[in-house]
Amino acid sequence: MCGIVGYVGEKKAQPILLSCLKKLEYRGYDSCGIAVDNGGIVVYKDALRVEAMAKSLPRLTGKIGIGHTRWATHGGPSKINAHPHVDCSGNIAVVHNGVITNYSELRRELAKEGHKFTSETDTEVIPHLIERYYQGNLEAAVEKALTKVAGSYAIAVLRSGEAKMVVAKKDSPLVIGIGDGENYVASDVSAFLDYTDRAVYIEDGQIGVITKDCVKIADDGNKVAVKEYKILWNAEEAQKSGYEHFMLKEIHEQPKVIRNTLAEYMRITDESNDVKLAGNGPILMLACGTSYHAALVGKYVFEDLLSVPVRVEIASEFNQQRYILGKTLAFAVTQSGETADTLKAMKRVKGEGGRVVAVTNVVGSTSTRIANQTTYTRAGPEISVAATKTFTAQLMVFYWLAISQIKEDMRRRAGLLSELRSLPSKVQQVLDDETTIKEHAKYLSKFENVFFIGRGVNYPVALEGALKLKEVSYIHAEGYAAGEIKHGPFALLGSETPVIAVVSRDNTYESMLTSIKEIKARKSPVIAVSESEDHDVEDLADLLITVPHVDPILSPIINTVSLQLLAYYTALEKGCPIDFPRNLAKSVTVE
Ligand code: G6P
Repeated sequence: MCGIVGYVGEKKAQPILLSCLKKLEYRGYDSCGIAVDNGGIVVYKDALRVEAMAKSLPRLTGKIGIGHTRWATHGGPSKINAHPHVDCSGNIAVVHNGVITNYSELRRELAKEGHKFTSETDTEVIPHLIERYYQGNLEAAVEKALTKVAGSYAIAVLRSGEAKMVVAKKDSPLVIGIGDGENYVASDVSAFLDYTDRAVYIEDGQIGVITKDCVKIADDGNKVAVKEYKILWNAEEAQKSGYEHFMLKEIHEQPKVIRNTLAEYMRITDESNDVKLAGNGPILMLACGTSYHAALVGKYVFEDLLSVPVRVEIASEFNQQRYILGKTLAFAVTQSGETADTLKAMKRVKGEGGRVVAVTNVVGSTSTRIANQTTYTRAGPEISVAATKTFTAQLMVFYWLAISQIKEDMRRRAGLLSELRSLPSKVQQVLDDETTIKEHAKYLSKFENVFFIGRGVNYPVALEGALKLKEVSYIHAEGYAAGEIKHGPFALLGSETPVIAVVSRDNTYESMLTSIKEIKARKSPVIAVSESEDHDVEDLADLLITVPHVDPILSPIINTVSLQLLAYYTALEKGCPIDFPRNLAKSVTVE
């Protein structure tokens, strides 16, 4: 979704805004713009990526400014629809992330009063409303304007000659960065990590006034104490560090992520992070995208190891259901902690008497402030739009929670704990064996349609493998439960439709072999992901991706890493913009 930034301080705002915007491009990148008070508000914007726009800008000396990188909702990507938007006088500039649902009505009203609109966006009503209410106090005008607005927003507002930014939010993320004689605002901390590791979160309905020396937050006119958080990530973690793409770097960081997550959880004994799984009745898991696939793995893990029944729901669908939940224990799985559908689902569970545990990668994110309890993944900043290491970290949380709560079969518990510790080196083996996967990727890149199949705990792995491939390589890919593929997809099999089969040495093994034979009989080429030395699979498959042996319940991590590499190298072969796939965004903050 869109990214917003702002700076006020002693330095020239322009280069800082541009550098912050580059960090937020993962949120949307179809157009961008900045507004700087340069002795009067000047706005530069275009349907370009930040780097391209930066080249066309004159050097501005103003020390206060706001910026935006866009993921179009209302009106296509164009210079006119790009943010910032201004009022009639051109004195008030606004950047916005979210969706104003009553904008048509407001626009008609304002037009009757003589306000002139130039874009197709919902955002443009905001500077005009502020202009309508401005009587010498910018924050008062913003507050009044927002009472008219329905929908979601995070905004930063600038007015010519006033050395302050006014910010506000409702259901869209916004964080303030605290510096020395300078302050920042952004949709997420990664934007200003190069400049400060001190953050202040602003809550829904609050208004913030930010000058170079001071941050004031008010709720309904009452002053609110400003609480500072220290950001645990450092700027280096958010660099490519010599890799061609963030996605490849993040795939390669997974052994470290597994180690960090384990180290973190193994030393935790206090109540705040110990989520008791048994005795709560059925557990609910809510998530979107890749996190939904992680939650599905979590279901198999909790049910298999603890016999705790789990229901997994896509958050946006859960939000359509009307039955009363009661005292459910729910996990909200969201790497960003800002996905609008997941946040809405969390609120619903709480509203109906349930308890929510957030599983997130971002300290202080909105999910942590809605949840009753938070358990963090320790993946470090993930920049590539396609989630990789955060998926693995989410799985590690589920494995740890389940394995550490095995009460009866202590041998199984000890065995799995030792297997967990061996995972980093096994993942490293997969990463070291990239050459074969690169070769297979070249082959795969020639096709237009691909199926991924798996069974049991590797069914979600098939779903995730397909999602990764379609996201980054634009090849149409579908993940299927292997047993289900004969109920329809068989009609599409043939030499032009390869099938990637994730085979695990568990109770699904024999039926996976049968599925592969049936697929081969219909002439589809089969690429199998399986353990080395599996001669049955070797004999059947056209191509093999071999992975080291682990306990089958842990195999989703190893298998997924190999499919992430396959997706990456297929996209590389096709010359796709891997870190920023078309039309996607890393953090989807609208419903
Ligand atoms: C977007 C991202 C995906 C992510 C999904 C859910 O679609 O592109 O990578 O899996 O949102 O995000 P969350 O932050 O809730 O895990």
